[in-house]
Amino acid sequence: MGYRVAVVGATGNVGREMLKTLAERQFPASEVFAVASGRSAGQEVSFGEKQVLKVHNLEKFDFTGVDIGLFSPGASVSAVHAPRAAAQGCVVIDNTSQFRMDPDVPLVVPEVNPHHLEKFRKRNIIANPNCSTIQMVVALKPLHKLAKIKRVVVSTYQSVSGAGKEAMDELFTQTRGTFVNDPALPEQFTKPIAFNCIPHIDKFMDDGATKEEWKMTVETRKILDPDIAVIATAVRVPVFIAHGEAVHVEFERPITVEQARNALRDAPGIIVHDKREDGGYITQVEAAGEDAVYVSRLRQDPTVPNGLAFWCVSDNLRKGAALNAVQIAEELVRQGLLTKQPA
Ligand SMILES: NC(=O)c1ccc[n+]([C@@H]2O[C@H](COP(=O)([O-])OP(=O)(O)OC[C@H]3O[C@@H](n4cnc5c(N)ncnc54)[C@H](OP(=O)(O)O)[C@@H]3O)[C@@H](O)[C@H]2O)c1
Repeated sequence: MGYRVAVVGATGNVGREMLKTLAERQFPASEVFAVASGRSAGQEVSFGEKQVLKVHNLEKFDFTGVDIGLFSPGASVSAVHAPRAAAQGCVVIDNTSQFRMDPDVPLVVPEVNPHHLEKFRKRNIIANPNCSTIQMVVALKPLHKLAKIKRVVVSTYQSVSGAGKEAMDELFTQTRGTFVNDPALPEQFTKPIAFNCIPHIDKFMDDGATKEEWKMTVETRKILDPDIAVIATAVRVPVFIAHGEAVHVEFERPITVEQARNALRDAPGIIVHDKREDGGYITQVEAAGEDAVYVSRLRQDPTVPNGLAFWCVSDNLRKGAALNAVQIAEELVRQGLLTKQPA
């Protein structure tokens, strides 16, 4: 009994995490297909503790009869194959940037805007937001409800897994190379990433912002509120998994740290860990492999009217990608939005 689910990009960082998350959360799947490029066709990937799945070639894969497609094969590949799958009756939940700002495609974080989901039928595609946007809007939602947010200033500290499996290899190789005097040249990044921070993620836009920074602005407005102003500085740091963010928020009316702390504590998907002492906050290493968005370092920002500052951290492969996508699939089931009943 269950839905037929295809994971597209199943050999990648996000795809492998999707398979793991589907199994862990016991998503009601009757059959799961692993799909990737022709390069991986025939290889095997793990699904749960005991099962292995043979990888199918996306070019030849027929989505007829597949209920849900969890896609993460890169934007240009999704651009071609997500609409093809959608036309074959498969509801696509796409992790790439390809459809996020399409007005006919809902951009959804289940804790924040599950009501946007119902609009998916126009294209049969739902977009998963950017990893750095997801964790921030989860934390902003309860605060916005408390005292309307006017402006957000955010600096990110993003792990290399956000750039794919080859980027993780590059951090590993460069780090080891530093100790054995074998410096490896940057390939995935523009500058050395080992023992360094790079204030550049995705391509440059005309106004000097990078596309990652632009995504945080426009996606936050689409998900949470079109009136919120967001300025971001996105930085890649030599961390394997999980993104950190220093977030500064200006509200329309006063809000105390205690009110903010209580609202965050009551909100779904958030764990507040905020002790004003050595180690009384959560770091990337601790958030890796976990589901929550952790909020620490809550404090008033006295430099602006009604200002609040905090640190938040979350696993970019889980809540930032795979978990959010699986939660969207669960929400589709919960809201009765999948036309086909489980077989
Ligand atoms: N990593 C994150 O934190 C994160 C978060 C949100 C969204 N995303 C987005 O998710 C996508 C994948 O990210 P990732 O980190 O998983 O990258 P990755 O580790 O490099 O994996 C890429 C996956 O896409 C597959 N693929 C590549 N070209 C393909 C093609 N022509 N046809 C079919 N499959 C193809 C690869 O298959 P092969 O192994 O066969 O090449 C692999 O399974 C990107 O668009 C990324 O922006 C990533």
